Amino acid sequence: MHGSGTARPLKARRSGPLRGTVAVPGDKSISHRALILGALSVGETRITGLLEADDVLNTAAALRQFGAQLVRRGNGEWSVWGMGVGGWSEPGNVLDFGNSGTGSRLVMGAMATTPITAVFTGDASLRSRPMARVLEPLLAFGATYEARLGGLMPATLTGADRPICVDARVSVASAQVKSALLLAALGAPGRSRIAQDELTRDHTEKMLKAFGADISVETLTRGEAIHVSGEAELVACDVDVPRDPSSAAFAIVSALIVPDSEVRIPSLLLNPRRVGLIQTLLEMGAHIVIENERVSGGETIGDIAVRSSALKGIEIPPERAPSMIDEYPILAVASAFAEGRTVMRGLAELRVKESDRLSAMATGLKANGLDVTETPDSLAVEGRGLDGVAGGARVATQLDHRIAMAFLSLGLAAKNSVTVDDVSMIATSFPEFEKLMRDLGADFQAVNA
Ligand code: S3P
Repeated sequence: MHGSGTARPLKARRSGPLRGTVAVPGDKSISHRALILGALSVGETRITGLLEADDVLNTAAALRQFGAQLVRRGNGEWSVWGMGVGGWSEPGNVLDFGNSGTGSRLVMGAMATTPITAVFTGDASLRSRPMARVLEPLLAFGATYEARLGGLMPATLTGADRPICVDARVSVASAQVKSALLLAALGAPGRSRIAQDELTRDHTEKMLKAFGADISVETLTRGEAIHVSGEAELVACDVDVPRDPSSAAFAIVSALIVPDSEVRIPSLLLNPRRVGLIQTLLEMGAHIVIENERVSGGETIGDIAVRSSALKGIEIPPERAPSMIDEYPILAVASAFAEGRTVMRGLAELRVKESDRLSAMATGLKANGLDVTETPDSLAVEGRGLDGVAGGARVATQLDHRIAMAFLSLGLAAKNSVTVDDVSMIATSFPEFEKLMRDLGADFQAVNA
């Protein structure tokens, strides 16, 4: 269930061709960062294309509690007036981040070198996700925290009174942890160094540069290290948020598996560290054409066109996981409609997402007639071809938006309809999902709870 509201089930039925152009909303990662960097800078940050989904709105509400001024000027158009690095004031109430790991973890970092205390909480999903991965490394800056057993929220974080810069190595393949440390480093005198073995998404680095931070990237034999100077004076700037490839993924895969479909998505974020799904689908034989590739606001974007395709199963290298970490649920659906076996490895992080996504996908796929092998960090799916997926199951969302959208996509091409027990969580990242998919031709039917 979504927060304390009632669950809203939805049925997806085999649909006619999906056709049209989809105005996918703004990228979630970039939206969070635009608000947070706006709140850390001086002057007016004008944002266009902001994702106005629950996760991002919770971050906006938290930033207001720290004293930032945020004004919605129109559809996706926001202005943020920040107080500068070190200028945040203490929140007067608990910060509720709802379902959002990104919002909560990045804000933890952003306040960790300011001497204020804040209490972080969220919904049942977020309260079960590991926070020590962020809170522990923040100790090195001089911050202190208390959390529930196992490093769970609710957690109280007190920022450093006399922050110190760090030389840290991020031990998990997480852009959220890396970003939290980079944001904390802004408030610590001296130059911090944050190293990571894997190349995770780099939106924080790119945006920090645009906001005037002194930041550089050192390439390592394995991974890279980011150097950033503290006592930074960030200067507000304009951010135009490109469309979210992780949301577009559902329209892309639906178009591939529903016969005779043809779907276009303009101005999509094509950051090289976010295109793992497109690369993988191309290797599986997908007809996806990228046109008009360009750079906007430091990010690569482009228009893409997708046509239904006969897919073949492949082995996906584990090192590709960070560039498509949120796309495995919908990739598993694409694999179900491929010919042959698809093997996805290096997926341990999926167990600590909004749900245990490895288990949620394996359970849902089996219930819909697929043969699936799940190990602690991999998933193998025996594809049944474009016309061979039985469907027919009712799938548990487990407070996970991407599980809901993935199985609705599966229902659009399976022989029998698929019901998802609660679609209300989709509002955390892609509130327009149902409408945009219906506009393309998706057959979604309301059902009684
Ligand atoms: C995100 C990083 C990823 C991703 C999440 C957004 C970000 O999480 O799953 O949806 O904006 O930095 P991790 O950093 O935990 O891998």
